[in-house]
Order: sequence, then C-alpha cells, then structure tokens
Amino acid sequence: MTYPDFTISKGEKVALIGNSGAGKSTLIRILTGELTDYDGDIYLDSHNYQEISLKSLQNIFALIPQKAHLFKDTLRTNLTLGRSVDKDVFKEVLTFAHVDKFIDKGLDTTFQDDLSGGQAARIAIARELLGNKPIVIMDEAVSNLDKTTAIDIERKLLQKNELTVIMITHHLYDENRALFDQIIKL
Ligand SMILES: Nc1ncnc2c1ncn2[C@@H]1O[C@H](COP(=O)(O)OP(=O)(O)OP(=O)(O)O)[C@@H](O)[C@H]1O
Ligand SMILES: [Mg+2]
Repeated sequence: MTYPDFTISKGEKVALIGNSGAGKSTLIRILTGELTDYDGDIYLDSHNYQEISLKSLQNIFALIPQKAHLFKDTLRTNLTLGRSVDKDVFKEVLTFAHVDKFIDKGLDTTFQDDLSGGQAARIAIARELLGNKPIVIMDEAVSNLDKTTAIDIERKLLQKNELTVIMITHHLYDENRALFDQIIKL
C-alpha cells in the first residue's frame, strides 16, 4: 500500500481515517517501530527512523490498540504495569478513562476474563495514559464504548494541549470534529 506524505507537529491532534483494510493499523505499527520493513522515509524531529532505537520509540508512543490486552493479574497491575504511580494522578486517570465506574469489586481483584470489551478498553486507555508518553495513538480504542462515554474520553484527550494525539477512527463525532488540527485519509 502507498501512504500519502504527511507531517504531524508537536501537540497536534490528528484523525486518521480510511476504509477497513486501508492500512491504518499497519501505519501505526510502522510508526511505533513494530514493523521495520517499508519503503520511504520517516523522520522524528530531524532523525531518520532508521537511526532511532525501538526502545526510544517505545518511550515516546503510547498505543491504545484496537483490541485491549489484559493480563490475568489484578486490575491494579493491569493499570500500573508495576510502575510507581502518584496516588492523585492514578485517581485522576481512572476518572478520565471512566474506569472508576466499574471497579466496585476493587482494584485488587484478579482479572478472569470477566470484563466487557468496553471495560477492557477503558483499562487500556487508563494504562497508557499512566505511562505519560508525549504521543498517544488511539486505534479505534473507544469503538466498544457507548457514544456518550466515547465522545467524553475523546474530547478530554483532544483537549490536552501538551499531547500529540493520533486517533484512528471510523466515526468522527461531530461533537469533537473541531478539536482536530488535521485529518489524514488513507
Ligand atoms: N500481518 C499481516 N500480514 C499480511 N497482511 C496483513 C497483515 N496485517 C495486515 N495485513 C493486510 O494489510 C491491509 C491493511 O490492514 P490494516 O490492519 O492496516 O487495516 P486498517 O486500515 O487498520 O483496517 P481496519 O479499519 O479494519 O482496522 C489489509 O489488507 C490486511 O489484510
Ligand atoms: Mg485497524
């Protein structure tokens, strides 16, 4: 597949759209360093991707995937991944991602395939936000959520000035459209 040339500036909010199979997720796998076999050039600041280690890319990109992966561990560990997280930040992120709505059994219960797709998605969103990376990529991450919750999470993310956000979506909500700086169509 051939991708258009594009530039994303720091802090920009970008919607990445295109039909199913257009190559959106594949492009993200290239940007995050998972796929290294491609034609063309990618630059991060002035560095060619070929000179950048996977580890550096992993420190820059937070990827909230199309399908959330949860570990058979406590919800707390699924969120923190063992990182030490400030208590207030933790609480704030759980509220941001609407995780606080369903953790009535507590954060120290072990996940046993007992969460809905939308609940798992919210855990994945919170987990990635806790990683504090400057570029956040959402790959249809809110597609399992009801419209009100999806719009709310998207809006709050798009309103974070310091973050660069790349949002893959099949559904550009009118409510959030004005918050995007550019729309890239594949
Ligand atoms: N590992 C792979 N090996 C071979 N082909 C692949 C692989 N992953 C994806 N493809 C193909 O590449 C094309 C683009 O897939 P991709 O997952 O990037 O699409 P997408 O735009 O994310 O679609 P969707 O909106 O359905 O998620 C598809 O034709 C797909 O079948
Ligand atoms: Mg995809």
